[in-house]
Formats: sequence, structure tokens, C-alpha cells
Amino acid sequence: MSEPQILFSRQQIAQRVAEMGAQITRDFSGEPIILIGVLKGAAIFLSDLARQIQLDATFDFIGVSSYGNRPSPAQELQGGWDSTGEVRLTKDVDQSMADKNVIVVEDILDTGLTMTYLRKLFLAHQPKAFRIAALLDKSSRRIMPIKADYVGFQIPDEFVVGYGLDHAERYRNLADICTLPRG
Ligand code: IMP
Ligand code: MG
Repeated sequence: MSEPQILFSRQQIAQRVAEMGAQITRDFSGEPIILIGVLKGAAIFLSDLARQIQLDATFDFIGVSSYGNRPSPAQELQGGWDSTGEVRLTKDVDQSMADKNVIVVEDILDTGLTMTYLRKLFLAHQPKAFRIAALLDKSSRRIMPIKADYVGFQIPDEFVVGYGLDHAERYRNLADICTLPRG
């Protein structure tokens, strides 16, 4: 397999994450928030973003996986696959979100199926506010009509790894966001 190529350097990521943190700090000025990371890809983004937010913040984590037709890592790299939209909860949050300011922190919005499922789940808890922070947005691949409130970077239809994102569980620990060339 080809070597990962840097798309966004660690310095570019740090600068953008700082801007996102400042924006969230302004938007919720003085109010407490709950940051909910979507496992596992958002773990590194959440830990950096949280330290750029000057608010009373707590953390929680949620786990999801797709049923059935989620592509294998090899198919993901080839592209051309489509998810069926069946998302399953593998780990629920630990605290109530009723009347709280909830910010879901996700590594990447791709088809939007995962986040559409999560949005429905969270809105059923009747939070005071519900926002989505996505490090990356591959909007050309969107199947469901969903947008993030805070987006780090728009990216083309490329498979990316690093800074939490994986290919078959590898590369999450790369400090830069890299593309994994096909073939
Ligand atoms: P969606 O439900 O299609 O929006 O998928 C979102 C999830 O797919 C993300 O949370 C990632 O785990 C995974 N994903 C989508 N695109 C990529 C990519 O380019 N690299 C690594 N993971 C990806
Ligand atoms: Mg993944």
C-alpha cells in the first residue's frame, strides 16, 4: 500500500482547532456544555478541542457501528460503495442530556448516516441546545441532509487517516491528517 500523504499538517490542524474552540466559547459564552465524542475516531480531536474551549465543560463518549453493508477497509479505499443506513449503538452516553448544551464531536461527516442517527437519538433527550462539531466534512458524499455547525476542513472525496482517523484501525496515531492513496 502507498504511503500516507499529508493533507493537513499538525500546525494547520492546531490552528483550526483553536479557532473552532474560540468560536464555541463565544457561542455558549458562560454556559456549561457537554462534549460528546463519537468513538473512536473523534478521541484525539475532542481532547485538543476541549482544551481550546474556555467554558465549564464535561465529556462523554458514544459508540456506533453500522450494520451489514458497511464496506470492508479494502472497499472503502476503492470507493464506490454505499452504506445501507443501518446504524447501531455500541456504547450509550453515561449522563442525562435533558436541558443541557450538547456538542457532538465527530471526526468526519461522510454520507451523514451516522450523524443523522445520532441527531435523532440526542434530540429525543430534549437537550437545551444541540450542535455538531466535525473535524472534516466530505460533503460531496452526503446521502442524508445534515450539516455540522462547526467544521474544521472541507475535504474532497479521498480516504483520509491520522489524527484519530483509521484504516482498519491503523494510522490513528499519525499527528497529521493524511490521504491514503488508492492502489
Ligand atoms: P457516515 O455515516 O458515512 O457519515 O460515516 C462517518 C464515519 O465513517 C466516520 O465517523 C468515520 O469513522 C468513517 N469514515 C468516513 N470517511 C472516512 C475516511 O476518509 N477515513 C476514515 N474514516 C472514514
Ligand atoms: Mg472509522
